Order: sequence, then C-alpha cells, then structure tokens
Amino acid sequence: MRVSLRVNGVEAQTDCWEGESLLFALREKLGFPGAKNACEQGECGSCSVLLDGRLVCACLVLAAQADGHDVVTVEGLAEGEQLHRVQQAFVDAGAVQCGFCTPGLVVAAADLLARSPEPTDDEIREALSGNLCRCTGYAKILDAVRLAARGA
Ligand code: FES
Ligand code: FES
Repeated sequence: MRVSLRVNGVEAQTDCWEGESLLFALREKLGFPGAKNACEQGECGSCSVLLDGRLVCACLVLAAQADGHDVVTVEGLAEGEQLHRVQQAFVDAGAVQCGFCTPGLVVAAADLLARSPEPTDDEIREALSGNLCRCTGYAKILDAVRLAARGA
C-alpha cells in the first residue's frame, strides 16, 4: 500500500506492507535513522517521535496509521545548524554515552518542555519514564533537561 505523510514538515511517500511499522518506514524507507530500533515492543522509548504532536513509540505505530499525518523525528528538532535547546543541553551536560537512547530522550524531553516549560524533577522523571538508558545512570540526563528548561 502507498502511504503519504509529512516528516519534519516535508511531504513523503512510501510503499509498505500492512504490518510495517512507522519506525521501519522512517529508518529504512524514508531516510530518517534518528529514531532508534531497540526493543520493537514499546518498552525502551528509543524510537520516540511525535505523531501529530503526540509522543509515540514509532515501533508501535503502523506506517499505515501515519498516512495523512505529521511526524516529527529527532532530525526535525534542530533548525538548520542550530540545535534544539534540548539537544544542546544534552551536549553541554554530558548526558550522552553510547547515544543509543539519546534521540528518544531528546524527543521526549522536547515534548515535555513544550507542554511544561518549568517542570519539576518529578515531572521530568515521569515524562522520561518510558525511555531506558543503559549507560548514564540518568543523573546527567536529568541535568540536561533542567539545563534546557533554564535556557528557555
Ligand atoms: S524500539 Fe520502540 S519502544 Fe523500544
Ligand atoms: S547513553 Fe547508552 S543507552 Fe543511554
């Protein structure tokens, strides 16, 4: 089947089979490898994207369900050479080790700050609770989100 959607504001089309995930279509068909493929079960958050402004796990959304809709991936957060403030804060806070979880965390944190510009630590922890990191111990990730919030 043919799927038409907007990815990071640009019209895109791809052919896919009925059971194909949005994550697979983004990574393997449409050239957006930012969302990572780890569990494919909705457990790790590494595939987080915004679908019509709502945070979703792209591995749990069918590509067909995105037909006619807007998707924003981590690649769409920066404006040209200008990193999104959450991306910059992750760099500045040293919140990246292997980096596999980072795109999903950045998208989830950007979503949080769009909804809640001055989140409490509990709000940050709740918002990022669906994103697993095997490396950092989370402390620097929390620092990065606090830093991004302060820089708003
Ligand atoms: S790959 Fe989608 S939640 Fe883990
Ligand atoms: S930095 Fe390696 S999984 Fe988070």
